[in-house]
Formats: sequence, C-alpha cells, structure tokens
Amino acid sequence: MSTLSWGIIGTGAIARTFARGLQRTDSAQLVAVGSRSGQSAQAFGRDLNLDNCYGSYDELLQDKSVQAVYISTPHPFHAEWALKAIQAGKHILCEKPLAMNIKQAEEIFYAARIRGVFAAEAFMYRCHPQTARLIELIRDGAVGEVRMIRASFGFGGGDSYDPEHRLFRKSLGGGGILDVGCYAVSGSRLIAGTAVGKPFSNPIKVRGLGRLGATGVDEWASGVLQFDSGIVAHVATAIRTTLDNVIEVYGSAGRLRIPDPWVADREHPVNGRIQLFREGDEQVIEIPCAKTSFTLEADMVAAAIAAGQREPSPPAMLWEDSLGNMATLDAWRQEVGIIYKQDDPASGPKFIWPPSSQ
Ligand SMILES: NC(=O)c1ccc[n+]([C@@H]2O[C@H](COP(=O)([O-])OP(=O)(O)OC[C@H]3O[C@@H](n4cnc5c(N)ncnc54)[C@H](OP(=O)(O)O)[C@@H]3O)[C@@H](O)[C@H]2O)c1
Repeated sequence: MSTLSWGIIGTGAIARTFARGLQRTDSAQLVAVGSRSGQSAQAFGRDLNLDNCYGSYDELLQDKSVQAVYISTPHPFHAEWALKAIQAGKHILCEKPLAMNIKQAEEIFYAARIRGVFAAEAFMYRCHPQTARLIELIRDGAVGEVRMIRASFGFGGGDSYDPEHRLFRKSLGGGGILDVGCYAVSGSRLIAGTAVGKPFSNPIKVRGLGRLGATGVDEWASGVLQFDSGIVAHVATAIRTTLDNVIEVYGSAGRLRIPDPWVADREHPVNGRIQLFREGDEQVIEIPCAKTSFTLEADMVAAAIAAGQREPSPPAMLWEDSLGNMATLDAWRQEVGIIYKQDDPASGPKFIWPPSSQ
C-alpha cells in the first residue's frame, strides 16, 4: 500500500499525539504542519523532523505534497478549516466534535461529497479492537436483549480549574458536552444500534440536566437517551469532576462493563478488557492491541482512502453516524442551556463551489 502524506493544522496537545501516532505506522507519513505562528510551526517541526513548517494554515493547504489534513484546532474552527481543506482538494480527519452543531457538520459532508474527498470525525476508540469485540459480544447476545446503557467521560477534579483554558472559554467551544460528552453519546448510540443490527442508532428522545459555571459553559452534565427499541442510555460528562469513565451494558441475560472504553492513552498501546457478568459468573475478556488508538485511526484513514472510500467503514464514524451524534449533542446542550453563537441560524462558514478563483 502506498503511504498517505499528512499535514497537521494546529500545534496543540492532541496534534503532537497524532503526529507521534503517525511516526509509528507504515501506512502514512507526516510531511507538513501549519500554525497561526511561524515560531510554533518551527518548534513543532523541529521536534518531528519536518521540513515543511508553515506560519499559516492557508500555506499548509497550498502544499501539493499534502494529501490528507488532520484538523486539531479548538472546536469552533473545525468547520472553517475542514471546509477550506476540502475546497483545496485534501482528504480530512477532523478532531471531535466534528463541528459545533449539526448544521456545520452537514456543510462539511456536503462539501466532501461535492469535492470527492474522504472526510471523517476522529473518534479514535472506534478504531480499537476492543470496540470491535464489544460489537461482536452484543451481536452474539452475550448479555441477551440490551435494555439499558451507561456511558461516562469526565475529568478535571481537584484544583485544575483554569477559566482561561479552551475547556472553560465559551468563545473556544468550552464545556463538557462537546468536549467529552460526545464520546458517551457516540458509545451509547453505537451499542443501541448494534443491539438492533445497525451500525448506530439515534435516540428518539433526549433529556438532560447540567451545571453552567462562571464562564457560561457546562462543567458537568447528565443526559438520558431513549431509543425506539426501548433501550435507555444514561450519559454523563464533566470537565470539572473526574467520573468513572466506563461503559456498562445491561441486558436480559447479564451485563458487561468496559473499564477503559475510550482507550485514550496518548503514548502507549492499551490492551482492551471487557468484563462479562452472567448468572453470578464473571468472565474477563482480554483484547491484545499493539498500537495506540491514534496510530490505529491513522491506519483506518489510509486504508479507506486507498480503497477509494469517501467515508470510513463502521465502527469508525460513518457520515450519518457523525450527523446523528451532532444532533444528539445539540439536543442535550439545549436541555442543559449551553448555546453557542454558531447556533444562530445566520452564522457559520459556507462551502462555496466552485471557488471564484477556479
Ligand atoms: N481525540 C482525542 O483524544 C482528543 C484529545 C484532546 C483534544 N481533542 C480535540 O482536539 C481539539 C484540540 O484540542 P487540544 O487539547 O489539542 O487543544 P490545544 O492544546 O489548546 O491546541 C489547539 C491548537 O489549535 C490552534 N488554534 C487555532 N485557533 C486557536 C485559538 N483561537 N485559540 C487557541 N488555539 C487555537 C493552536 O495551534 P496554533 O497556535 O499552532 O495555530 C492550538 O495549539 C479539540 O477540538 C478537542 O476536542 C481530541
């Protein structure tokens, strides 16, 4: 398989993680980075032995050696740079959440379809073999008929509060629901879908409560999703409270628990582990894994593009799956009262095709 040449937009924390993930695979190579600042681009490039280090994102998009772009800015800039990258003919992998709301997400997939490029939302846990094994277990009836789900992702207990951090700044898309609540929702929708023989399912009702902090963002929140199969899921998130960060699935014949469902370790490969409880019996299923979730995600993108696909294969996020996730997050946010300026129907970047310069 020929290797995929990547450029990275943004030089923050997760950009470095993804860059290291690219260094550990034969499916891809990192060829360029773009930053708002030339200095940051140079510093990032020095650490990673990169020649093409640009002091603007636009310059990165003009680099013809870049085939795929990884977008790792704060959430409010995902749609803008995803659309610009697509317009420039680049494949994209955009960090979660794909956009601020479903309206922006639809715009991104519309653009990718018109331009004929690959686009995907980066939920790396979907590429880990633990997720594939979870799907098999649910499909094989390991817990019988699925009835309830609990999924949580929250961090930030203790003294880590910093109102200037992107997580707490509303203008930077701060708040738990968008940052990591999106995992709990995507995990629940994956399981609810698998239970009825589909790659995902969307809830028919969403209820939620949460607390908005001094900066106006949701610091912790709970949600309840009801699916038309009758399955009910409890989702929880926080950026100021450390949660147990698990998935539990309760069925007619038992339950299962995944102690580390999001496999988000940035440096080391993590083996999967699923606990299965049936009739008082506990079984532990170990799932070996030799790569980090970020390397697995890069491999998934390279393979899909090599196969001529425009979207990932499940369990990675199909376009409709990302749209359903965004719609659920929109509904949960509305319940909790966290509305961003991008939710104004008049706001948001627009995909213009063909661009006037062509
Ligand atoms: N998949 C995962 O495990 C995972 C983990 C963490 C975060 N994420 C996602 O990745 C995205 C970035 O998160 P992060 O933790 O890496 O954030 P971060 O450390 O704050 O980095 C974000 C980068 O975006 C660029 N940027 C562009 N406009 C900006 C602005 N107005 N203010 C601040 N930075 C701006 C900056 O790079 P330049 O200065 O170089 O332009 C900055 O370094 C978020 O959407 C988040 O949800 C995913």
